[in-house]
Amino acid sequence: MMDEKDACAPEPQARRRTILVVDDEPINRMVLKGILPADLRVVMAGCGFEALEMVAAEPRPDLVLLDVMMPDLDGFEVLRCLKEEPATADIPVIMVTAMIDEESEQKGFELGAADYIHKPVRAAIVNARVQVQLQAKAAREMLFRNNQRLRHKVADGAQALELAQMQLMQAEKMASLGQLAAGIAHEINNPVGFVGSNLGALEGYLKDLFAIIDAYERGAAACADATPFAEVAEFRRKADYDFLRQDVVSLLKESQEGVDRVRKIVCDLKDYSHMSTAEWHWTDLHKGLESTLNMARNQLKYHCTVIREYGDLPQVYCLGSQLNQVFMNLIVNAAQAIEGKGDITIRTGRRGDDQVWVSVSDTGKGIAADDLQRVFEPFYTTKPIGQGTGLGLSLSWGIVDRHHGRIEVSSEVGKGTTFTVILPIGQADAAA
Ligand SMILES: Nc1ncnc2c1ncn2[C@@H]1O[C@H](COP(=O)(O)OP(=O)(O)OP(=O)(O)O)[C@@H](O)[C@H]1O
Ligand SMILES: [Mg+2]
Repeated sequence: MMDEKDACAPEPQARRRTILVVDDEPINRMVLKGILPADLRVVMAGCGFEALEMVAAEPRPDLVLLDVMMPDLDGFEVLRCLKEEPATADIPVIMVTAMIDEESEQKGFELGAADYIHKPVRAAIVNARVQVQLQAKAAREMLFRNNQRLRHKVADGAQALELAQMQLMQAEKMASLGQLAAGIAHEINNPVGFVGSNLGALEGYLKDLFAIIDAYERGAAACADATPFAEVAEFRRKADYDFLRQDVVSLLKESQEGVDRVRKIVCDLKDYSHMSTAEWHWTDLHKGLESTLNMARNQLKYHCTVIREYGDLPQVYCLGSQLNQVFMNLIVNAAQAIEGKGDITIRTGRRGDDQVWVSVSDTGKGIAADDLQRVFEPFYTTKPIGQGTGLGLSLSWGIVDRHHGRIEVSSEVGKGTTFTVILPIGQADAAA
């Protein structure tokens, strides 16, 4: 069996081929060495054990000329050992023997011998058979290498295709989410607008109504005869007027707060989706972070405390929605890394005249040093199937790279992780 290492070995013609001659008779070894062409490197072993040792060491021979009759370990046993060991099974073995009976020849071929040369050896035959075997081996190696190259190309192509598909899906998902969010925001805005302004008007009307009731009550109190007001008093008691009057005000206040909240959500939705048009804008990153945090609130609210340590940031020329996606990936990853309860700290700051940074730190489980370099690889995930595609960070890397920025990561197992996005404030080709 050839392994990856063989596949990466230099081209056959680039290195000198090695022949191992195994024979217990020194004279036989010398004869073979004398016959073999000078461009071959010839090494020699005087017994089976020595042969096995030499074959096990690098560089391995390309061909073995193997005597059959040897004391201790005969040629058949050596052959069996070579063929059983995957690292040496591909080395062709030519048996060199005086045993010319059919039975031993058959035994050799069954054990995997490539050929037979009979003693006494003849130069022309030895050289012809050796050349045939070396050429066949070189051809096999070349085939193997080409196969490997093709296999790698196909695998690379398949992976690139899969990545492109996932990125397309992600982009489509973001675009349709953005459109959906913008559409919903627009649709909700209208009714929320008139509910809000109606509530404002209702508050005014209620004030007037209460003022009128108060005036009636003062009039009734001033009347000597209370009889005509008995029915009013009964209604008032039944309706629990004092409570109702207080409650109407607080219900109205709550409704107004509710409408304000809906307005804010709509605003966040618009902010979040606003830039899915993939247009470059001068953008307030804190606004993007806030709307992203709002969108991620559901994932965070039960087990993460979000701490903001925002610095002074100038506006940044960027693809806002795409950076929001980066922040979202980092925040969701941070939340997913926290088992139990923990903190997510978002810091921002300025670096020098022309850069800003945003970091997301968590007190989660951390990343082992060996895995740290793999987290940006597409499809690298440690999350269960269905929970992670392993694309979040590779997409984020791509987005930040488009901004000519970079992402840094530091982590300590058991303590937590910090991802820092560093971005230029403007782009060289930015509109002023
Ligand atoms: N804050 C973090 N703490 C610990 N490990 C992290 C953190 N962020 C990323 N990782 C590790 O990096 C891997 C890759 O992250 P990435 O965001 O690319 O993919 P994912 O979160 O697994 O899946 P996806 O984002 O596609 O849902 C994660 O599976 C996790 O092992
Ligand atoms: Mg992720």
